[in-house]
Amino acid sequence: MNPYPTYSAPPKQAWPSGCEDPNAPLTNAEQVGNSTWGTLCQETFPKWLPSENGKPYTKAPWGDKTTKNSDATVRSDVPNTGDTRYYTFNITRDQISTDGVLRDVILINGQFPGPIIEANWGDMVEVTVNNEIGHPFEGTSVHWHGFLQRDTQWYDGVPAVGQCPIAPFHSFTYKFQAELYGSSWYHAHYSAQYTGGIVGPMQIYGPTQLDYDIDVGPVMISDWFHVPYFSIVADAVGTDLSVIPPVSDNILINGRANHDCTQRTYDNSSQWLASNLESNITWTCVDDAPLSKFKFESGKTHRLRLSNIGADGMMKFQIDGHTMTVIAVDFVPVEPKEASVVTLGVGQRTDVLVTANGGKESAYWMRTSAPGGEACGGSSTPETLAAIYYEGADTTKLPTTAAAYNNTECYNDALESTIPEYSITPSPNPFVQDLELSLVMNATGNYEWQINNQTFRANFNEPLLFKAAEGNVSYPLQPQWAVHNFDKNSSVVLNVTNKTPFAHPFHLHGHNMYVLDEGDGAWDGSIRNQQNPARRDIQTIRAGGFAALQFEADNPGIWPFHCHVAWHLSGGLAMNVMSRPDDIPAIPNVMPETCVDWDWYSSHNVVDQIDAGS
Ligand code: C2O
Repeated sequence: MNPYPTYSAPPKQAWPSGCEDPNAPLTNAEQVGNSTWGTLCQETFPKWLPSENGKPYTKAPWGDKTTKNSDATVRSDVPNTGDTRYYTFNITRDQISTDGVLRDVILINGQFPGPIIEANWGDMVEVTVNNEIGHPFEGTSVHWHGFLQRDTQWYDGVPAVGQCPIAPFHSFTYKFQAELYGSSWYHAHYSAQYTGGIVGPMQIYGPTQLDYDIDVGPVMISDWFHVPYFSIVADAVGTDLSVIPPVSDNILINGRANHDCTQRTYDNSSQWLASNLESNITWTCVDDAPLSKFKFESGKTHRLRLSNIGADGMMKFQIDGHTMTVIAVDFVPVEPKEASVVTLGVGQRTDVLVTANGGKESAYWMRTSAPGGEACGGSSTPETLAAIYYEGADTTKLPTTAAAYNNTECYNDALESTIPEYSITPSPNPFVQDLELSLVMNATGNYEWQINNQTFRANFNEPLLFKAAEGNVSYPLQPQWAVHNFDKNSSVVLNVTNKTPFAHPFHLHGHNMYVLDEGDGAWDGSIRNQQNPARRDIQTIRAGGFAALQFEADNPGIWPFHCHVAWHLSGGLAMNVMSRPDDIPAIPNVMPETCVDWDWYSSHNVVDQIDAGS
């Protein structure tokens, strides 16, 4: 007997009048479901939110803290506002045509990209996630990218590390503090599921070093594939080297692009939702799907929160006729610097200010490209555009501006261009762990990614954090859990040498890392800006290059350190940093309950884990 309710797609909301282009070849609901991202109806954002009960704050809720006098990674610097922001995510399967091409997706509240999470610095955030993914069922979990999760390690959202997956048709509530401020995103952390659509923006209001007039909010960039993530993962962990690095079909800005329908990108046999379940989709394509649109006001300074929420491709972003001023990378405010092109590896964010120096009736393109081919996660679409309309512009006409720059470098922007506002000198004499990345064929002929000759593979039924909290800190029979116990070390350098011909954006959970140095070849021990090196939570390691990444081990727990390319993570390019296991707090009872539900589900159903898992 099937104990689960029958799957039904979420209702589509009524679209605010005047927002939808009546001449568009497909409706907004067909293109992006309930999302209003990338439309002229998209609201702008405040400098801070009112209190939880709706009372406005007359002064900033963080008082006189500034980007220069406070360090958000120091607990005593984080305000405690007493406000909690509540959200509910209903996750279901759906079908949409972001770029005119119909595909299977998995969406939050029927939207792509998902709903925004907003909070003031120091607020609590509570998100209830209802896993309604049906036909086929899948576990899920949601990770709040870049947060520290101090003393709430179990709410980091990584299955097999801090929780069991949320079982089909079960719910789980995450509760954590917005300890850092700035721009980020959340995403599913179960297999490569987020690339199916479980992604969305987060913005935390806090101090800024330069004032601005209008917060435009999220400008989310992603590569996009026309087949379900399961099909791509099956190739990426398969035996055919030629399909291991897939090239994306398109690039989206706030979930929209268009596609030339004469270029067919899938046949029905490439559409797998699970090992034994082919999708019922047939090739459906509409030309000229609407591109994203943004509003600018002449003479005003706008804040754009750029993020790469894609699977693989490194993005190069620019705005025709405008210079950007970078004010933050990831969750770290930086000394303002002008940039004509901003580079974003998967998972990275850059906040920019843009002064609208065009005339009142002008219109410009913003544009993003994923250059560099397979080594850099390239796309078969060279570039995607989105329109910027000034207040008097005719929004029925497309801009006609041209690109000024062509940057195709497959690495991050220079470390010297991102100097943190709050200066920190890393602890001296850290423990140095050398790590070598490789791509090898295993005994069964499948390709896997390795760190120091070890591929990661998760066990969804055995979260590592629970074991460590009980004092069980070594797993000699489970090398595939890839745990590196740094024990009582107070500061650690991860010296990563990339022996593969692919770039890898590496992310450490629960920390901002100092990027001591990065480049081609191997690290020679030098530090670029010894007094105050660049800090962020993801750094791209070039093909055939290195990065030396230091972190202060001030957050006891087990923290994944992984390549954020979804297909490489599926192939096992991950390890787990265990820090100060003796200081891991007791796990609250609600956490093992996730495992009771998952254990029941997984003992009555075959869990289709074809990849590393998380
Ligand atoms: Cu965006 Cu493991 O994270």
